[in-house]
Amino acid sequence: MRNQSLRFAREWARSPLKTGAIFPSGRMLCQLMTSGIGPFTGRIIELGAGTGSITAQLIAKGVEPPNLTVVELNPSFAEHLRRRFPGVNVVNAPAQAIGALVPPGNDPAAGPIGAVISSLPFLSLPDDLVEQVLATSFDLMCPEGGAGGAFTFFTYGLQVPLSPQLLGRLRLNALCMGKAMLNFPPARVFTLRRI
Ligand SMILES: C[S@@+](CC[C@H](N)C(=O)[O-])C[C@H]1O[C@@H](n2cnc3c(N)ncnc32)[C@H](O)[C@@H]1O
Repeated sequence: MRNQSLRFAREWARSPLKTGAIFPSGRMLCQLMTSGIGPFTGRIIELGAGTGSITAQLIAKGVEPPNLTVVELNPSFAEHLRRRFPGVNVVNAPAQAIGALVPPGNDPAAGPIGAVISSLPFLSLPDDLVEQVLATSFDLMCPEGGAGGAFTFFTYGLQVPLSPQLLGRLRLNALCMGKAMLNFPPARVFTLRRI
């Protein structure tokens, strides 16, 4: 754990806005982010996995490594994730490119996508990029346009960092799943679902 924190702090010092936090996600935050997830969830996409605290929690909850695709922009984190999680599909790419990287949920060979779990620093990303990530995630999870999987993310802000206009355009409903007060910094977890 100490090693993960040192690695994380080093990457934060290099690129604070893109890294989005000084420390990896703490235990309480990892638990909240993965509540309701299990071996039954099907395929899962994790965006911005960093050093893999949430990835480890997903595997501890019974998610099979081949069902997990982890997308991470920072090549040093991506390399670390490959070594730490054999069998997990680690993609070193921007999250906004996932549409071209992951087969959609109606691909019979690949199977449905039950959840997207995101640690992306939404507050420091441009609005159009956030919208692209959300639109693509729901296109992958709900390829026929109906209801489907859930997109779970956290924010260090007090409210959901998405405008009502954006939620309306993408037909999404946001629900606060709780606060991880012992995380540093404290974080709120939200789940988005298509309505
Ligand atoms: C808050 S940190 C992740 C924390 C992670 N849960 C952990 O415990 O290590 C956010 C991560 O998102 C990654 N990131 C930022 N922008 C990204 C993008 N456009 N696509 C993919 N990953 C991105 C950063 O490199 C960083 O690893």
